[in-house]
Amino acid sequence: MDFQSWMTAVQQRTERALENLLPAADIAPSRLHQAMRYATLGGGKRIRPLLCHAAGDLAGADPSRLDIAGCAVELIHAYSLVHDDLPCMDNDVLRRGKPTCHVEFDEATAMLVGDALQSQAFLLLSDHVLADDPRRQSEMVRLLALAAGSRGMAGGQMIDIEGTGRQLARAELEFMHVHKTGALIRAAILLGAQCGSPMPDDEMARLDHFAKRVGLLFQVVDDILDADASTATLGKTAGKDAAQGKTTYASVMGLTEARELADTLRSEARQAIEAFGERGRRLHELAHFIVTRKF
Ligand code: IPE
Ligand code: IPE
Ligand code: MG
Ligand code: MG
Ligand code: MG
Repeated sequence: MDFQSWMTAVQQRTERALENLLPAADIAPSRLHQAMRYATLGGGKRIRPLLCHAAGDLAGADPSRLDIAGCAVELIHAYSLVHDDLPCMDNDVLRRGKPTCHVEFDEATAMLVGDALQSQAFLLLSDHVLADDPRRQSEMVRLLALAAGSRGMAGGQMIDIEGTGRQLARAELEFMHVHKTGALIRAAILLGAQCGSPMPDDEMARLDHFAKRVGLLFQVVDDILDADASTATLGKTAGKDAAQGKTTYASVMGLTEARELADTLRSEARQAIEAFGERGRRLHELAHFIVTRKF
């Protein structure tokens, strides 16, 4: 199967799984369930579920387990976007080509949507059997909790907010990106692998190295696109980082060097999984997609 067909197939099965796993819109409290579905369904590239499937395939995992693990990470991601867009954070009105959750509903609802999506993610990891060994499954819960929390995404968002209006040093910028975005990307890959047969330590180390490089790469490209693409293409307001005084790879090193850095990170990611040969093909293709994406 070519990459495009594989990607579309995983995106479609992720969409179906999310539709089924989220509470129906008519279940009370209907407004909250409607808003959770609004923030999660019908948009987004589903990069994290794609990475979860690619890593899981490499480990011989059952695709139905990967649907659950991928959706759990995607729910945390969707929650992070709803909160990221709130007036007290990035104050954005457009997300995935639609009004942001707090604009379409209201701020209190958007806060609760984030809270509830996060709980829903952990509910998935406890309601479904994802590993033959229960200890591996509890390790997965731990991985996602760490990636979402103060030493992962939420911690990175804190650094972002604290750093707004102030020029961060390059090392601080990398630390912020690795946490706010890299942690969940890494979790998507590691959770996918955990759904399959246990991998030798050296293989896990390679995959983890790949995950870390791709995690940083993803936010470097997000920074470039914010500075360089249009609102219509992005489906979110372009030029926000500069307007809000955020330090980004584009502001620290300029667009040309930021693009070079993205290429370097992609090469490092590729090298990390070279030894997997053909088994790593989807991961290679996803890293390429992340660098060349237009939105
Ligand atoms: C945007 O993530 C926010 C970041 C963490 C950089 P994505 O670019 O994956 O957003 P969607 O899910 O495709 O909308
Ligand atoms: C967001 O980074 C990272 C998250 C944890 C959501 P950005 O603030 O750059 O994401 P966008 O550009 O609004 O999607
Ligand atoms: Mg932000
Ligand atoms: Mg933002
Ligand atoms: Mg951004």
